[in-house]
Amino acid sequence: MLKNESLKIGRNEPCPCGSGKKYKKCCMNADTPKPVDVAALYARKYDIRLKTPEQIAGMRRTGRLVLETIDLLETHIRPGITTNVLNDLAHQLAMDHGAIPAPLNYRGFPKSICTSVNEVICHGIPDDTPLKDGDIINVDITHILDGYYADASKTFFVGRPSADAEKIVRVAAQCLKEAMTMLAPGNTIGDIGWAIQTYARDQGCSVVREFVGHGIGRQFHEPPQVPHYGKKGDGIPLVPGMVFTVEPMINLGRAELFIAKDNWTAITRDRSLSAQFEQTFLITDDGYESLTPFDL
Ligand code: MF3
Ligand code: CO
Ligand code: CO
Repeated sequence: MLKNESLKIGRNEPCPCGSGKKYKKCCMNADTPKPVDVAALYARKYDIRLKTPEQIAGMRRTGRLVLETIDLLETHIRPGITTNVLNDLAHQLAMDHGAIPAPLNYRGFPKSICTSVNEVICHGIPDDTPLKDGDIINVDITHILDGYYADASKTFFVGRPSADAEKIVRVAAQCLKEAMTMLAPGNTIGDIGWAIQTYARDQGCSVVREFVGHGIGRQFHEPPQVPHYGKKGDGIPLVPGMVFTVEPMINLGRAELFIAKDNWTAITRDRSLSAQFEQTFLITDDGYESLTPFDL
């Protein structure tokens, strides 16, 4: 059961029961408060669209195709292959299933997937550079199937990893796992970032602050923003029906970045390695379901 105080309703805000009265004049002190219309409250207060079972089923289907795409790319990742070839494989698989690769032409992005190698944090643009032994590569896949988006990414080793590569990929994967322990009603968006930041810092790594997880549904990026740093208890309370990504970008060195001349590629300022794992999550009554589940 949702306690009203866990929803952070201000006394002068509209009552969450939908009466149109101020909260303090309605259910705040009522002996028997009327049921809270959480979907209406979250839409009005945060512009967050809680998802219906039908929408969730749609996103689950898209999520399966996103994972199938990542699995296909994994089988091709080796020294000598170019990121353009990975892009074309992902694009074709989407097309074969009646899906649209969401990045293509999104705000002018020129390719169908993001491929981020070594010191590239995110939004790397596929090109004709061959991968080398010892590289790490993140492939970030977002498809649209029947109007529903799902978004996931993994970082892979190319050939044999260095000790640094092993470390940053291990820490980035564990950061997403730490975040997942917070995904339940009653916790907040701030708890997610806090868990990530605490683990990353313990490992001597840093968390990128310029890019955040995001609500997702019939659009690529919806409210809320999900920072990968934060304070325990801060931010919006998690409620069932929320769907958002968590996608911590973790650097071996410092957190600062710059954007390359292509206006997309984000690169660590100190050129240290960066790794990322991303899934799309649904908050359920008793925890969460990943709509793009894979082992970490
Ligand atoms: N998939 C990325 C994310 O996780 C967004 C990529 S935007 C693009 O939010 F335009 F670069 F594709
Ligand atoms: Co993504
Ligand atoms: Co995302």
